[in-house]
Amino acid sequence: MDFLQYQNGKLIAQGHAIADLAKQYGTPLYVYSRDYIEQQWIEFDNALKGRKHLICYAIKANSNLALLHALVQLGSGFDIVSQGELERVLKAGADPKKVVFSGVAKSVIEIERALVVGIKCFNVESEAELERIQMVAKRLNKIAPISLRINPDVDAKTHPYISTGLRDNKFGISYQLARDVYHKAAQLSHIAIEGIDCHIGSQLTELSPFLDAADRVLNLVDQLKNDGIVIKHIDLGGGLGVCYDDEVPPKSSELVNEILKKLSAYSDIELVFEPGRSLVANSGILITKVEYIKHQDDNHFAIVDAGMNDLIRPALYEAWMRILPEKQTTDDAITYAYNVVGPICESSDFLGKNRQLSLQQDDLLVVCSSGAYGFSMASNYNSHPKAAEVFLEASQHRLIRQRENFDMLWQGEII
Ligand code: LLP
Repeated sequence: MDFLQYQNGKLIAQGHAIADLAKQYGTPLYVYSRDYIEQQWIEFDNALKGRKHLICYAIKANSNLALLHALVQLGSGFDIVSQGELERVLKAGADPKKVVFSGVAKSVIEIERALVVGIKCFNVESEAELERIQMVAKRLNKIAPISLRINPDVDAKTHPYISTGLRDNKFGISYQLARDVYHKAAQLSHIAIEGIDCHIGSQLTELSPFLDAADRVLNLVDQLKNDGIVIKHIDLGGGLGVCYDDEVPPKSSELVNEILKKLSAYSDIELVFEPGRSLVANSGILITKVEYIKHQDDNHFAIVDAGMNDLIRPALYEAWMRILPEKQTTDDAITYAYNVVGPICESSDFLGKNRQLSLQQDDLLVVCSSGAYGFSMASNYNSHPKAAEVFLEASQHRLIRQRENFDMLWQGEII
């Protein structure tokens, strides 16, 4: 994580001492570098220069309004999967014409709203959804722009829970059926075929699955062209991995260059990507405080104030995330192999296991790479208010989400 380093034995994020941020805003605390996010987005966008394209940031990775607004200002598009996400991007000032709508379970109300605001495209995930969109569009007297999300049946070589492009996954329309469904779409009165789409999984660390999926998509584009169906954009989804430990995923420019080579004969087709994690994961950290140290039998626990309610990735996928102490470990320090565990009453509530650390009560720890699928997957389990979020902007920092208070915990509940 480029914006984190030790100076005089203390951990510093983009010029700000972690200890000072924790003191000012409290813990657990999410901190994101706006500069880092902008840099990632610009790098992706620059790689596509000279080609008609749109980067649609997948907001499920991190949907804070300030972060979305920063991307709006860069000209970003957005990939959404619910009306809640649609309302968020609109609130952040997004142009609906740059919004693509993915997701397997779009309701009538969600489709209506997306048609009324005029999104760029529905990424249709089933034949039944296509029929529903036609029905709603006809009722509203609108033409619905669609692309079909193809399930290309390629192995993304990632964790099974975040693999989406295999035949047995619930996502997309099978490669074998897609041509027929396009033919059907072409017959529907209130449907306009705009594109083709696929997303095969997340945290991909190799290029080959992307390229295999692109081959399958291009094959279909060719077949459809012969059938007289014109595809105006190809959306290759998100999925580019990041380094949590020692992974060396391709850079966005490497992915884009390989894809552009494949697409050289399709220069009139717009290219869309839906990156989430690769833009934001390594922009963010979670600061947490050690409440207690417990040495028991052969076990050493650092019990911290952030848990699976704040950051569920370790509990859900056994994801490994780097944990750094705020005070740099000195050579002569006594260390233990700690299990860093949270306050939640579940044995799966850990942030990291077997981490060699030298710790005392009230010390601070930083969980790295928490900018993606951190806060956006947080919950109030065990009635913990959600953490605060802070933006680092050049040499400044500011609150971008207040820490929840107890009234917010039961807002909307009725005795
Ligand atoms: N487009 C679609 C249709 C998606 O389903 C996703 C992610 C993305 C784009 C963005 O993918 P990314 O570039 O972030 O890999 N919670 C899991 C990750 C779930 C990803 C779900 N879909 C985790 O924490 O690892």
